[in-house]
Parts: sequence; C-alpha cells; structure tokens
Amino acid sequence: MLVNSKELLLKAKEGKYAIPHLNINNLEWAKYILEECNKLNVPVILGVSESASKYMGGFNTIYNLVTGLIKDLNIEIPVCLHVDHGTSFETCQEAINAGFTSVMIDASRHELSENIKITKQVVDYAHSKNVTVEAEVGHIGGTEDNITNSSTNATLEDCLTLYENTNIDSLAPALGSVHGFYKGEPNLDFKTMQIISENLPIPLVLHGGTGIPEEKIVQAISCGISKININTELQFVWATAVKEFLTNNPSVIDPRKIIGSGEEAIKAKITEIIALFKTKI
Ligand code: 13P
Repeated sequence: MLVNSKELLLKAKEGKYAIPHLNINNLEWAKYILEECNKLNVPVILGVSESASKYMGGFNTIYNLVTGLIKDLNIEIPVCLHVDHGTSFETCQEAINAGFTSVMIDASRHELSENIKITKQVVDYAHSKNVTVEAEVGHIGGTEDNITNSSTNATLEDCLTLYENTNIDSLAPALGSVHGFYKGEPNLDFKTMQIISENLPIPLVLHGGTGIPEEKIVQAISCGISKININTELQFVWATAVKEFLTNNPSVIDPRKIIGSGEEAIKAKITEIIALFKTKI
C-alpha cells in the first residue's frame, strides 16, 4: 500500500527507531527493496532523485512501476514513494501529480528566506493532495549524481524559522553528514541534533547514511533521527557483486543474469540496515 511519510515517521520518532529511505535506480532496485522489506515486514521509503527519475523515464513511469510491483508481488507493507532532493516547486508538483506520496524540496542552496518561500509553496500544494514534505536547512555536501558540493551546518534558529513558516512534515538539518563515501570519520554534531529534535515537533532526517559507523547511527536515532537515507552503499555492494560475476562469467550476455547477479548483495545489505535501524511496522 502506498502511504505518505507522516505516520511512519511520527511512529518512528516515538518508538526511537528509523525508517530506511533507499534510493532506487531501475526496476530491479525497486523490486529487490520491496521484496526484502516485505519479507522482513518493515515499512520503506523509496527515494527517487531527479536524475534517477529522468533515467527511468519520468515520475509517471516510476509511479506505475512501483504500484505495479506492489500489486504483482503482493507487497503488504506500507511503501512511501518519495522525491529525493527535488530542486523546484515544478519538480515536486510533477511528482505529486504522478501519484508520489511524499516529496523533499531541497531549496537549501538559497538564502533562508528564499528556502522558506519555495518550501511553503510546495507544502501548500502537497498538503492539499495529502502528500508529505521534507525540507533541508544548512547544506548537506558531498558527492551525489557525480556532483560534489561543500557543506554548511544548520542552526536551531534557522530550523525553527523554516518550520514555523512552512509547516513541513520532516526536516533534514545538515549536521556533518555528506553524500557518498566519507574521507575519514564522519563528524556529526549530535548535540545540535538533539537540541533541534527537542525543539521541533516533527521528525528529523539523516542524509548521507553510507559509511556512518554503526554506533553513530544508533546515537543519531537516540538524538531524534527517524529517517535515514542510504544510496551509495547499495550501489557499492551491487557493483562489487556484478563485477565479480562478470570476471567469473565473461561469456554471459543475458542482462537479467548480469544485473541480477547483484540481487543477493543488495538484499543482504538491506537486512543489515533494517537490523541496525531497528525498523518496525
Ligand atoms: P548516501 O549516498 O551517502 O548513502 O546518501 C544518500 C542520501 O542522502 C540521499 O538523499
């Protein structure tokens, strides 16, 4: 069943666990994630970046793909179909019109006042369609879709100002995590994370989940993180398995065998993630 993120994240905040946000790239990614999360009986947020959407054909194609898989595979868990880092009102509107149940509007590259203006426009439209909205304060850097950006940490004051002026459903404050692999140990500002969580009634989101040591994930959840985004880690385990398969089976040309040789690696990693996040239905 497709749901928005509201209840999933509020329950996670209350129960001190995290819902996994796993980025999808194609049919196989969506299928493996749905099958594994359904087997483990946990809810999941499928994240779709703008470039992943373009790659797969567009938001309508993805909506039909995901709802088709839910039906054909008898998926019974709650599934949230979410735009990851939507950069404009128009992108979010297009996804909502296609049937997405949740969007992230990332206007964090703008000044706070402009971030608020764009975010509010998205919230007003999204809430009229029962769609939830995540926003970003500060700026989460690192490498995503082959683009590298620097980070700026969020402050409590900016988080409160954005929340009070927009009525967003969840917030991703930049507090030291980055997209892609870390150079050295991630340096997360847990103190500010805890303070923001205590002062905001909405759940917090941690981007850049790949490469954060397990104890820091546990600490982030105890500081109020209710949704953790993972992308690079699934790409890495899939690519490693496929490269090994191709080295050992150089004559195979069936794309289903080649792409599918990463299935077990993705599913095993999802099982680890769910156990670490202590995700519940
Ligand atoms: P990673 O690629 O570092 O796991 O981050 C994913 C993410 O935050 C997507 O929004």
